[in-house]
Amino acid sequence: MKKDFLWWRDGIIYQIYPRSFADSNNDGIGDLPGITSKLDYLQDLGIDAIWLSPIYPSPDVDFGYDVADYTDIDPKFGTMRDFERLVKEAKKRDIHIILDLVLNHTSDQHPWFIESRKSKDNPYHDWYLWRDPKPDGSEPNNWTSVFGGSGWEFDPDLGQYYYHMFYPAQPDVNWRNPAVRQEMLDVFRFWLKKGVDGFRLDVFNEYFKDADFRDNPPAIGIRRFDWQKHIYDTSQPEMYPLLKEIRSILDKHKDAYAVGETFLANPEQTASYCRGGDKLHAAFNFDFANCRWHPERFMKALNQWYGSLDENSWPNNFLSNHDMKRAATRYCLGEEDQRAKVAAAMLLTIKGTPFIYYGEEIAQRDIHIRRKADVLDPVGKTFWPIHKGRDGCRAPMQWNGEVNAGFSQTAPWLPVNADYPRRNVARQISDPDSVLNFFKKIISIRKSEPALQNGEFKALESQESFIMAFERSLEKDRLLVVLNFSSRELSFDLPVGEWASLINPGQRLSGTMAVHPYQVAILKFNT
Ligand code: GLC
Ligand code: CA
Repeated sequence: MKKDFLWWRDGIIYQIYPRSFADSNNDGIGDLPGITSKLDYLQDLGIDAIWLSPIYPSPDVDFGYDVADYTDIDPKFGTMRDFERLVKEAKKRDIHIILDLVLNHTSDQHPWFIESRKSKDNPYHDWYLWRDPKPDGSEPNNWTSVFGGSGWEFDPDLGQYYYHMFYPAQPDVNWRNPAVRQEMLDVFRFWLKKGVDGFRLDVFNEYFKDADFRDNPPAIGIRRFDWQKHIYDTSQPEMYPLLKEIRSILDKHKDAYAVGETFLANPEQTASYCRGGDKLHAAFNFDFANCRWHPERFMKALNQWYGSLDENSWPNNFLSNHDMKRAATRYCLGEEDQRAKVAAAMLLTIKGTPFIYYGEEIAQRDIHIRRKADVLDPVGKTFWPIHKGRDGCRAPMQWNGEVNAGFSQTAPWLPVNADYPRRNVARQISDPDSVLNFFKKIISIRKSEPALQNGEFKALESQESFIMAFERSLEKDRLLVVLNFSSRELSFDLPVGEWASLINPGQRLSGTMAVHPYQVAILKFNT
């Protein structure tokens, strides 16, 4: 049955890393007025929503993912008025706003934590996970931090340890304390009232820990963090009722949405937070994003993902975000963009809401961090040179060929990729073959074909392992997508009947089709 357009299911979501999108006041850091100034560009691209990485006051130990106040705007990004203006201007263009809520931990500069560590009888003490040392003075249990070392940090004044899954400057809050729970739920209400349409929940399956703080059992792994099975510090059953409570708050607002980022969870577990239609609307499937360049890999990840969800939950898909190497960096060879186009066509036509990461539409590449001294991301500082951190994918957006790629008049907080004189938005707008114009074309096809938005999905067999082919169907409409993942000419046997190309209007195909190197074909069954 044809459904009415629902923005988070049928639309396209665009992730902005605010520090790096557009700098309006030339201090080298992107900001909210900068984003507002680019809304026409985003509308023209054809996206339906923006997910903003955190914009709240933060000391930036983890660049915004350490929040010092959940209901305000960091001055480096602008003011609350700037935010309200962004929401208003976005709405005028039918663009929805999704905020990133980082509610597993706060910054150690958050007033709650500052109070919490003052004394054991401070009313805020129990808002965090404080524990006494073992009799020999050692940590309360064996839990580790994913950012390196022990998960416990000792406070000599208090004589207690506090727990942090991430950086020591990111203490985990105590979600079992009813006052904390209330305060956090009010954060949703606060932003919904401001006109926000949805939320991305940072590492939400991390909120609850084992009530008895039992030791995790051992496991085999490379990093110290992987030497244990994380059964007591993640994915506790208390998360399900909490998600239902969050959902009931969202459901009071028309079409409000929540997408969750699971941490250390497989697709089946991830899907369990979406099934039933009474918890999250969606969650991220990392298996798909982590695939090697091979259609079978992607198809396997998709089928597993689709199979784990139920009729009440809707998949979403992404290939890039602020924590991983960009898809173009991983898949493209040199400055060649053919694979970026195939990847884009796949992302925009498979079943599930596509998430585009800023710059993906020009196939922006990661910057190379050459020396440890240049690293800003705490992950890179800790694990250099094994893991160089996440700065590479967070570099400024490349708008044009002018100074600092048009991002800022001042040296930006992270360097601009040296390829910007060749690779930038302005140049790609005027190049009919550019990735940007390719994105726009596929997006406009997607917009005019409801089957590509919410139709059924069926994978098709091919003799060629480097061909990905699938059908999307809705009522009488049958759409066929054929993607050549290789630099060789291949062939594909079309299903019976005549097919019209939507990329080359006027072209009709039947029988065996020659699929050119890296060709993208979107065909519609002629009735
Ligand atoms: C999530 C974020 C990541 C952050 C971490 C801690 O994984 O995506 O950027 O470092 O949570 O908040
Ligand atoms: Ca700025």
